Amino acid sequence: MESRGAEIGHVTGPALQASVDLLAFTTFGDPTKDAVFKSVDAALGGVLADVARSESFEGKTAQSITVHTHGRIPARRVLVLGAGPRGEFANPALRDLAAQAAQTANRCGCATVGFVVPALGANREATLVQMAAEGVVLGTYKFGRYLTGEDHKRPPSLKHFGLLTDVKGKKPTAAQSKAFLAAVSRGSTIGAAVNHARDLVNEPAAVVTPVALAADAQAIAKKHKGAVTVTVLDAKKCAELGMGMFLAVGQGSDQEPRFIHMTYKPAKKPKKRICYIGKGITFDSGGYSLKPSQSMEDMKVDMSGAAAVIASMDAIAALGAPVEVHVVAACCENLVSGRAYKLGDVLTSMDGTTVEINNTDAEGRLTLGDAITYARTKIQPDELFDFATLTGACMVALGPYTAGVMSDHDALVRSWMNVADRAGEDMWRLPLNSRLREQLKSSVADMRNTGDRFGGAITAGLFLKTFTKDTPWVHVDIAGPASVSSARPSQPKGGTGFGVATMVEYATRP
Ligand code: BES
Ligand code: MN
Ligand code: ZN
Repeated sequence: MESRGAEIGHVTGPALQASVDLLAFTTFGDPTKDAVFKSVDAALGGVLADVARSESFEGKTAQSITVHTHGRIPARRVLVLGAGPRGEFANPALRDLAAQAAQTANRCGCATVGFVVPALGANREATLVQMAAEGVVLGTYKFGRYLTGEDHKRPPSLKHFGLLTDVKGKKPTAAQSKAFLAAVSRGSTIGAAVNHARDLVNEPAAVVTPVALAADAQAIAKKHKGAVTVTVLDAKKCAELGMGMFLAVGQGSDQEPRFIHMTYKPAKKPKKRICYIGKGITFDSGGYSLKPSQSMEDMKVDMSGAAAVIASMDAIAALGAPVEVHVVAACCENLVSGRAYKLGDVLTSMDGTTVEINNTDAEGRLTLGDAITYARTKIQPDELFDFATLTGACMVALGPYTAGVMSDHDALVRSWMNVADRAGEDMWRLPLNSRLREQLKSSVADMRNTGDRFGGAITAGLFLKTFTKDTPWVHVDIAGPASVSSARPSQPKGGTGFGVATMVEYATRP
């Protein structure tokens, strides 16, 4: 789909000698104390410090200044990016800074960038290089397929994004060059997978149907022949397996449901087997518990979990993982019709539990419940994770940028949260308070599918927990961060590909 990629390379000469259209570097707080700033400022005869003063540039987060060099140094322009206090700077923050440099380049018609990777200690260098590469790939993403204006057809000006890792210009050793290339390739691969998930989310529901998602999974398996396989089950197969909840949700739509199961097997004996499940509602009208138009407007995003798990598989296979990874997505559309499921219906799930429907808009947990039973019985993973745009209540609790994490397995959720932190994805744990389980009691079936308004994210989590049994499990409600309405440099408006970075990190570097 969308590819606007610049080539990312290594610049090994000193910053002051970099012959580029745009030289970009960061300062942590007061720019006049920064060595690179001082050297560039001196070479420019004090212009940089003048501009910084007159524009109140203090090296704070989101501040920046640009100056033209008028031939005084080989770089044609200089961009100084504020990075905030050095002690508070986390590696993933470099994504936004590199993205901003790439965007500035494209805005100013620059073809080449030299971006100074901040020196924060040798042990952080590879990760910072990776994050810079991710930032460039993520920051140049644009979903422009349906924009027909001339300015959207023009190719971006940025062609080469060079990273400077040693401003003094010492020649890197062979080992350093190798580590650099590996970090760039890791960052580009993860960035491309995130962008792929974004494309799947941003495409309309008329394009990204359950069948289209299955085709996407098949294309990824074909690309990684020998390492990745895929099985796609149609409605008939799912009926044979007894997936009464999943099939009920999809039966109101003319789009056929598809149950996707991808498997990655490492060359060596795997350390463990993990399974990532993604919610794959390609459009959520709410069913007969119909959503008001405003809430329905954005409901093509309801397959963001499926998009994230499928796209992750591409990066996991490309980078290689020491663990066996399974991806599962029960994909269908939640619509109204003469065949749609209704309130009061009683469904029988794959594990035999009966569920009374008191809200057809709580469809995600029904599809996920059968996906969890499939994973538990057919895959038998050591660890199970699910990613779902599950509840508006989770956004009420945590805001639009933070995922809600629920689990009954303390050790697993702790290691998951550590990896999310490393990957720079905002997640926060919510308690699975079992007292709320009362809300799911039904008088005609084993349980009903929704509880009261209060604790809505948690009752959804408790519903899912019914099906996980003893399997160590982490539930990630991504209703908020799966798509955003306000952009930041590494994350344009729309689908974000949230979850991919953490999933890839967790599988490839557990
Ligand atoms: N897909 C929605 C949740 C959602 C809301 C995702 C906003 C992204 C943005 C989900 O299927 C849903 O409709 N949930 C209901 C649950 C309720 C009926 C218990 C909700 O949040 O209102
Ligand atoms: Mn819904
Ligand atoms: Zn939904």
